[in-house]
Amino acid sequence: MAGQEISKGESLLLKGHRHACHIMIHADTDAKLFGKTPIKHIVLMQMRFDGLLGFPGGLVNPGEETLEAGLSRELWEEIGVALKVGPEDHCSSCLALSPPNLVTHFYTKKLSEEEVREIERAAVSSAADHGLEVMGMFRVPLYCLKRGGGFPSFLLHAFVGSARSQLISGLRALGLLSPAQLQAALAKAEE
Ligand code: APR
Ligand code: MG
Ligand code: MG
Repeated sequence: MAGQEISKGESLLLKGHRHACHIMIHADTDAKLFGKTPIKHIVLMQMRFDGLLGFPGGLVNPGEETLEAGLSRELWEEIGVALKVGPEDHCSSCLALSPPNLVTHFYTKKLSEEEVREIERAAVSSAADHGLEVMGMFRVPLYCLKRGGGFPSFLLHAFVGSARSQLISGLRALGLLSPAQLQAALAKAEE
């Protein structure tokens, strides 16, 4: 479940709150699964140390760094790439349901397929958190196969915080899946 939406500016005025920033990195692709099902879009997520699925990123301290600088620092630790993130990449901010007094900020960034491959290589070979906070990066299957395979099955996993809602809202906002495709996948996942 998602928390309450809040503007980024308003959230920074809150006293005694911690802030976490996470990002959905994505790219277009012409690849086809089994040579016939178009993959269309690559979206990166990670298996976390706690066994839950989430987006790369983490806790930042707006008193010492901007949200975007903190997110870039977390990405350096978690994916081993110096990815520049700016205010224009911000998508939404939320008051988390748990833990208390946490604001989660969600960003999205489009890269080329080759840049995504570079991140995947670095995430394994040079990221400091590989095998520690991060058990591995992976691509989200966004297509729908027979009997709910693909995205509907993916939605049944356990996600940290509001990562599942962030994924769905990010896909909707960027038009990577249509409202009808999202609705169909959510309905299938609930069967
Ligand atoms: N939506 C909402 N909350 C999230 C999301 C998300 N997509 N992803 C993570 N969180 C929550 C986590 O539950 C955590 O409380 O945000 C907080 C920070 O995110 P992390 O990515 O886990 O933070 P990071 O700085 O990378 O790692 C620090 O070390 O001390 C431990 O448990 C602590 O998870 C924390 C980790
Ligand atoms: Mg981290
Ligand atoms: Mg993290």
